[in-house]
Amino acid sequence: MKTQLFGKDFIAEQDWSREELETALDVAMDLKRKFLLKIPTPYLLHQTLYLLFFFSSTRTRTSFEAAMDHLGGNAHDLPSDKLQISHGDTPKEIGKILSSYGHGIAIRHCDWKEGNKYLREVAKYSTVPVFNMQCDIYHPFQAMADLLTILEKKKFLKRRKIVMSWAYASSYTKPISVPQSFLLLLTKFGADVTLAYPKEFELMPEIMKMAKNNTKNEGGSIEIIHNMKEAFENADVVYPKSWGPLVFTADPIKATKIAAKYKKWICDEKIMKLAKKDAIYMHCLPADRGIEVTDEVIDGPKSVVYDQAENRLHVQKAILALTMGGR
Ligand code: CP
Repeated sequence: MKTQLFGKDFIAEQDWSREELETALDVAMDLKRKFLLKIPTPYLLHQTLYLLFFFSSTRTRTSFEAAMDHLGGNAHDLPSDKLQISHGDTPKEIGKILSSYGHGIAIRHCDWKEGNKYLREVAKYSTVPVFNMQCDIYHPFQAMADLLTILEKKKFLKRRKIVMSWAYASSYTKPISVPQSFLLLLTKFGADVTLAYPKEFELMPEIMKMAKNNTKNEGGSIEIIHNMKEAFENADVVYPKSWGPLVFTADPIKATKIAAKYKKWICDEKIMKLAKKDAIYMHCLPADRGIEVTDEVIDGPKSVVYDQAENRLHVQKAILALTMGGR
C-alpha cells in the first residue's frame, strides 16, 4: 500500500504506479462499504474543489459534487463559459488563482489536441492537485470505476478475455479517451485485452506503446482484431462503445462518413451470445440506444452500466481523499 499520495495530480492513470492505483482501489472499496453503512467520512472537511467544465456531463459532474459532499467539503461547478476564459484568462492564471482559493482543481476539456495540454498547463502552475475529469487522451476516473466493476463482478483478471470494442454511434464524434484509459489501466494490472475496431479507428500510437510496455512489465497481452464478432467469441467482459477516428482524421464530416460504413457494429443479443454465458456488458454512458447497443442488452441481466456509474463516486472519493487530504 502506498501511503504518500498527498498533493499528487491525477491526470493520467499511467502517471501513477500500480501500487498507488491499488491503494486508491483499496480505499475506494472501504469508502463504498462505509457509504452503504452510512458511516460518515469527513476526510476533506471544509475543503474546496473546483470543477471546470469545457464540455457537458451528467455522471462526472454529479458524482464529483456528491463525493465532496460525502467527504465534508464543497464542490463548485464552473462551466467554462461562466469564467473569463474567452476574454483572456490563461491556464497559468486559472492554476495560480483557483489554487490560491481552494484545495483541488478538476477539469473536463475534451477538445482534440487541446484538452490534455490545457490540464498539464494548469497543473504546472497549480499548488493543489489537478484532476482529469476527461480530456482528449484520457478518462482516468472512468477507467478506475471500470476496473473496480470488473474486479467486483469477475473477482480476478488473469485468464479473462476482456474486450474493448468500437461500436457505431450517430449522436456525435465521441472522444477516444475511454478506450485509451481502459487499455492503459487494464494492462497495468496485467490483463489480457482484446481491442476490436474498424481500421480507421486505431488508438494513438503513443498510447499503444505505453500499453505494450505495461504488458511487458505486468505480464498481460493486447490482441487487435478488426472484426466485432470474432472479438466477442468467448469473452468474459465486453465493452462496446463508439469513439471518433481521430488518429485517422479530425475532420467531423469525414469522421461521420467513415463511421457510417460500420453501422453493423452494434451490440445486440445475437452478438452477446458469442461471449461466455456469464459475460458482462459494460458502457461508460451516455450510449446511443438502438444504434450503439440495443435496449435488450443495455437493460438486460448482463449489463453492469449502473455499477460502473456508481463506482465513479467511490473511486473519486478515494482519490480526492488521498490526494487532497491524507498523508
Ligand atoms: N461516463 C461519463 O463520463 O459520463 P458523463 O459524460 O455524463 O460525465
